This record gives sequence, C-alpha cells and structure tokens, in this order.
Amino acid sequence: MSRILVIESSARQEGSVSRQLTADFIGQWQAAHPQDEVTVRDLAKQPVPHLDETLLAGWMKPAEQQSEAEKAAAARSNQLTDELLAADVLVLAAPMYNFAIPSTLKSWLDHVLRAGVTFKYTETGPQGLLTGKRAYVLTARGGIYAGSGLDHQEPYLRQALAFIGIHDVQFIHAEGLNMGAEFSEKGLAKAREQLAQVA
Ligand SMILES: Cc1cc2nc3c(=O)[nH]c(=O)nc-3n(C[C@H](O)[C@H](O)[C@H](O)COP(=O)(O)O)c2cc1C
Repeated sequence: MSRILVIESSARQEGSVSRQLTADFIGQWQAAHPQDEVTVRDLAKQPVPHLDETLLAGWMKPAEQQSEAEKAAAARSNQLTDELLAADVLVLAAPMYNFAIPSTLKSWLDHVLRAGVTFKYTETGPQGLLTGKRAYVLTARGGIYAGSGLDHQEPYLRQALAFIGIHDVQFIHAEGLNMGAEFSEKGLAKAREQLAQVA
C-alpha cells in the first residue's frame, strides 16, 4: 500500500481547473491502485498560518523553555511534516497567481522545508532527508508560460522539492485557460492526456 498526499491550493472551490485535475488524478489513481490511501489537504479551506515568532520559537527553543502557545504552534506545524514524511507520492495543485504559486502553498512549503526534519545542513551543504518519494505538480494557468523565463512556478517548485530530497517530479501544466475557448480547451485536453498516462 502506498500513501498519496494531495495538496489543494486554488482559492476557489467552484470552477477550479487545478481541482478538476486533482480529481482526475485521484479517480485514476484509485482505479489503478485501490489499496492505496489518499489524503487531501485543502489549503483554501484550512490555510496554514504564516511563519511567525511563536512558531519559530516552537521549532527552535528547547521544549522546557517553550510557552504553551509555542508548543501548540509547533504541534500544528508537525502535523504537516508528519503527513509529508508518511507520503510515498505527493501531488501539488498549483494555480498560477501573479506569475507564481498561491501564497497558501508558499506557507505550506515554509512549514515543511524544515531543518532537521526534511533536510539537514552538512559540511558539504544542505541535504534532503526525504528519499524514495515521487511528486506530481498540476498547474493551472490563464496564459502560456511553460519553458519560458516567465514561468516562476516550475523552477521554484523543482528547487524547493529537490532541497528536501524529492527529485522525481513531473509537472503537468494546463495552460491558456483565460485565452478563449479554443486555447482553453486545448490546454485542458493536453493536461488530461498527460494525466491519463500517470496512474
Ligand atoms: C489572483 C489571480 C492571479 C492570477 N495571476 C495569473 C498569472 O500571473 N498568470 C496567469 O497565466 N494566470 C493568472 N491567473 C489565472 C489563473 O492562473 C487561472 O484562472 C487558473 O485556472 C487558476 O487556477 P484554478 O482554476 O485551479 O483556480 C490568476 C488568477 C487569479 C485569481
């Protein structure tokens, strides 16, 4: 049995293309691997807090010196790293907002790129601690950016995932969604075709 962790980050529930893609992914995956366990974390319904002084103290202070609030903040954050550590396959849904990822997804990354938990510092530089995991990133974009210097999603997410040891990453982009019916239908069909190969 494998564990699949799906992270939703579209601000909208209705009409979201990235949510359509994750729904396709989950349906196809469950049909091919009925024994696998799928967990969905929806960052729009349950946003994770931005990093703040209380959480950093919860991460860094020795336990006996932490306030109740610092302990609680660290415990909430640990749920996110525990979920990721337990997963074999990570699926990130990433709408493009202002050339990059939603701030909710950035907040989640700020929790899970954690020194001593998902990466460590060594004499030769940082080393990712997550091994043997695979990731799929399903993006939805109003325009067309793949392969261009204006795509600030794929290079950033590749770097962030590699930093914690996830190197096996496939991106599936649904692009041109706000460029009229013809581009939008083509962009979605191409993404769905790629998605159908995955499960
Ligand atoms: C606040 C906001 C900012 C956006 N910025 C961009 C952008 O920079 N580039 C782009 O191609 N599309 C942009 N879009 C369009 C979305 O990427 C597109 O609507 C996509 O389908 C959103 O994902 P979703 O359908 O899962 O909600 C933006 C949409 C919103 C709501």
